[in-house]
Amino acid sequence: MKSGPKTHEMFMRGKESIPGGVSSNFRYWGDDATLVVKKANGAYLWDLDDKRYVDYRLGFGPAIMGHARKEIIDHITEAMQIGNCFAMTNEYEIRVAEKIKKLTGVDLVRMTNTGTEATMAAIRIARAYTGRDKVLKFDGAYHGFHDYSLWNTYPPVSGVGYKNDPFLVPQGSGMPRSVGDLMMSFPYNNKEILEKKLAENWHQIACIIVEPLLGNQASTMPQDNFLGFIREQCDKYGIVMIMDEVKTGFRIAPGGAQEYFGVQGDLVTYAKCLGGGFPAAAIAGKKFIMGEVGPGKIPHGGTYGANVVAMAAAEATLDLIEKGELDKVNAHGKKLKAGWKKILDAAGAPYVIQGPDAMPGIVFTEEPVCREYRHWALGDHETYTKIVDRCIQKGVMPDFDCREPWFVSAAHTDEDAEFVLGIFEESVKEILG
Ligand SMILES: Cc1ncc(COP(=O)(O)O)c(C=O)c1O
Repeated sequence: MKSGPKTHEMFMRGKESIPGGVSSNFRYWGDDATLVVKKANGAYLWDLDDKRYVDYRLGFGPAIMGHARKEIIDHITEAMQIGNCFAMTNEYEIRVAEKIKKLTGVDLVRMTNTGTEATMAAIRIARAYTGRDKVLKFDGAYHGFHDYSLWNTYPPVSGVGYKNDPFLVPQGSGMPRSVGDLMMSFPYNNKEILEKKLAENWHQIACIIVEPLLGNQASTMPQDNFLGFIREQCDKYGIVMIMDEVKTGFRIAPGGAQEYFGVQGDLVTYAKCLGGGFPAAAIAGKKFIMGEVGPGKIPHGGTYGANVVAMAAAEATLDLIEKGELDKVNAHGKKLKAGWKKILDAAGAPYVIQGPDAMPGIVFTEEPVCREYRHWALGDHETYTKIVDRCIQKGVMPDFDCREPWFVSAAHTDEDAEFVLGIFEESVKEILG
């Protein structure tokens, strides 16, 4: 993948003022490949050289209705006329909270701006509620960019150690070692190890934070009712179950993963699809714990939470979800999966297609099912990345990062599916022969 001349020139100019030329490390694809966007509309995105891409990144997932969806833009434009930031409750925020409750079955909701803020706050609430300090997560799961998330997110497989006794590997420098003393990380989908570790340590553990499916591991799915098992164990030991629905919320079902898998968390975090591409996020949950957030009780705050633009975007997005737009998302995802299967079967390399239709992922692996980080990490990510590189070059854009699934929107059409699968087939043949 090599960016065009105008894109490259602007990117290099950006690098003079922005470290790495990007505002998030995950956006850097190399000096010669990192794109600068001119515009995006529906399922398409254009770079500064006017090259068009069918977009399956959707800004790491949020633009579930496609880019610049008219109903969302119209609603925001109207809402902006009343002002945006009051540091007071506004009507949009109340209506959005009501819609979230109706769609997901939670009792109470607090707004934030990003998924990182939401998970950070949820962990604080769980600690305050239980009076315990430790946070249990799973190897390969990502919960945002704060210090209580970035352990065993993407470690070298040799560094993370044997499944029964994983090491805690920080994402990088700047993360206090002492925070690691408050963390535990174990293999996803392994009930035996989780049961044993909880029996030994439950009295120290405030919360289990879980991505209901590993959306940061090419959509690795929970197996054998793993989420139900976590629910039971949390109930047994008085541990708060945090469902991190930042990627799955309002995407895999109107009620997110709680609806899809039939398991309810005590706390749930939402971001991404909630705002349809605008920075709206939320911590939500059951009354017994969310009702304890408030003055003189559990602290939570922020200047921009529930600003009018974000809430208007959320209101319009949730309206569209209520009207059944996810059916289009799922139908397109199903088409992609069926097409990939045909193409990859013909190519003959061992692979797994996993995840729900709205966010499917591909892993080149000999494993029949990807259950946890060690299975996924030993997959052939180089081949996948080479294929994706060819796809992007030809105008079809999933993320370069093999951890990301393909994010599908309501704007992707059958015509797009035909074009995309043609490009995918060509790219697979070029790499796998
Ligand atoms: C499961 C999960 N939690 C939290 C986050 C952090 O969200 P944000 O990037 O909005 O801070 C992400 C981001 O990708 C995520 O996938």
